[in-house]
Amino acid sequence: SWLLGQQLNSGHHLQLSDQTLMDLSLRFRREMDKGLCRDTNPTAAVKMLPTFVRSTPDGTEQGEFLALDLGGSNFRVLLVRVMGNGEQKVEMENEIYAIPEHVMRGSGSEFFDHIAECLANFLDKLGIKDKKLPLGFTFSFPCLQTKLDESVLVSWTKGFKSSGVEGKDVVSLLRKSIKKRGDFDIDIVAVINDTVGAMMTCGYDDQHCEIGLIVGTGTNACYMEQMRNLELQDGDEGRMCVNTEWGAFGDDGALEDLRTDIDREIDAGSLNPGKQLFEKMISGMYMGELVRLILVKMAKEKLLFQGKATAELLTTGSFKTTYVYAIENEKNEEGLAAAENVLQGLGLDPAVEDCIATQRVCQIVSTRAAHLCAATLAAVLRQVRDNKAAEKLRTTIGVDGSVYKNHPQFSRRLHKMVRRLVPDCDVRFLLSQDGSAKGAAMVTAVAYRLAAQHAE
Ligand code: GLC
Repeated sequence: SWLLGQQLNSGHHLQLSDQTLMDLSLRFRREMDKGLCRDTNPTAAVKMLPTFVRSTPDGTEQGEFLALDLGGSNFRVLLVRVMGNGEQKVEMENEIYAIPEHVMRGSGSEFFDHIAECLANFLDKLGIKDKKLPLGFTFSFPCLQTKLDESVLVSWTKGFKSSGVEGKDVVSLLRKSIKKRGDFDIDIVAVINDTVGAMMTCGYDDQHCEIGLIVGTGTNACYMEQMRNLELQDGDEGRMCVNTEWGAFGDDGALEDLRTDIDREIDAGSLNPGKQLFEKMISGMYMGELVRLILVKMAKEKLLFQGKATAELLTTGSFKTTYVYAIENEKNEEGLAAAENVLQGLGLDPAVEDCIATQRVCQIVSTRAAHLCAATLAAVLRQVRDNKAAEKLRTTIGVDGSVYKNHPQFSRRLHKMVRRLVPDCDVRFLLSQDGSAKGAAMVTAVAYRLAAQHAE
């Protein structure tokens, strides 16, 4: 297995040293600067988008809100009740809806009509179609915001590719689809990114929370930045949450020394070639496929399966990311049994060595993912620390996402490497439960209260 690791590593250099990760972290810090500065922002790969969220929750948020959660593993509609009575209680009803593939890759109007229809169905079910409720929309894609309720999609990422939406305000598109139906009315108050949702929900329980992290279908982070550093925004007072969109790190060639032939293959076969190159080395949408491509390569080099690859193994997407979770089970025997199961499911007849090797490939791929995330997260932590001119930072990170939650080893490896890269930060990782939806409700609650105050 050591030998295998060596072979894998010499071929693909997937195991990154602390030194490489530290260097990567510094590189990412410069990318952040590039995105924040007025002159360099237009050409920056890491966009550092302003979110118009200016504070984390203070516990007084309250009311009843609708939330839409789009861009993660599921599309959901929710009704969220926030009780701002100091107890910080949140109640919710939620419904998962499918977005058929032809809708995901079809026209924009078809896409938003479908979302409006799911909303209508949800309101019907709860018998609240006649109420005009405020809605928070968690739309987990890079968006240019000019205010809380205007959000222009920069580009689709992950598995989405509906036409005619890029460059448009998604709030207007959704309003249009709802108006066309005419059977209900809602008040779209805020659009947020899922990273912001993760930060907001954890901020409810922990006042130190000022960073949000997602490692799920995609990967990304946000954090509270000083207004004076946000050169593209007017005003120097206070803070604003910045959506880094770190998934696009490397889209300008900055990661070519770390990308392997496997990474290039994943990118070439994706819906958005040349885009989200950092994300493609990490997130759940690609993790299983990375493993599959390595297994295929090793089979071709006669290192596995006696040199035989089956049609199933050769099929794109046949090695699900959930298989990686099972194979890396904390109990080694169970992990190996899972590997055998998976490989048999792919029509192979694996020897014990094949199962061990497959497990090793999973470990190498998912460890690289955790370590790459740690490197960029360390850069964000240093930025937050330097903003406070603090020697030692004590801070909390709100985290969500299927890989972080479901991979049995990912979170531990991430935490460990972050602490190695920034030993002078006292970091707490807080799992955000249902961050996307609750966070949207929280932001909506604040915006709604402020709007009401203005109207008085
Ligand atoms: C992709 C999206 C980003 C989102 C992340 C996690 O990177 O571009 O907006 O936060 O996925 O869902």
